[in-house]
Amino acid sequence: MAVLTVRRYGDPVLRRKAEPVSAITPQIKQLIDDLIDTMYDQVGIGIAAPQVGVSLRVIIVDDGEGGARPLVNPVITAQDGRAVAEEGCLSIPGIFAQVERAESIEVEALDGDGNPLHFQAQGLQARVIQHEMDHLDGLLFIDRLDKATRDRIKRKIKKDGLPDEAPHHAFAL
Ligand code: NI
Repeated sequence: MAVLTVRRYGDPVLRRKAEPVSAITPQIKQLIDDLIDTMYDQVGIGIAAPQVGVSLRVIIVDDGEGGARPLVNPVITAQDGRAVAEEGCLSIPGIFAQVERAESIEVEALDGDGNPLHFQAQGLQARVIQHEMDHLDGLLFIDRLDKATRDRIKRKIKKDGLPDEAPHHAFAL
């Protein structure tokens, strides 16, 4: 178990399309444990493997009950509704914006032992899963904003940089 360094905006690994996991090996189980440690250390409610520099399709989602749910090779098989809410990202500390996403989703994935999962998620959990799955495709939440807002955020990051220590926030992914 180890807390890993979270890669920040500008790191090319955050823009890469992650590879599927072909088997749940001891290394993958170790990665899952480390991602969970890192997520809690950073007071996040979700994290994706590319955020620690590993370009594999593994995400962790806080289950809202104090537990952490690993999802391996997740796929959204259906979605419904639209919802807007504030998001932040462990890789872009100090930046928050309103993001529109599907309100409810249906997900297929493997759990941390390689067992198939098929479930529905809505509200905050659906949002976290969609945000983390974007990381697997090299997307960041600022890519989901209108161009004017995104450009304003990019200019701010260029001018001020990112804070070393982000203020803890209830919604960091
Ligand atoms: Ni994020």
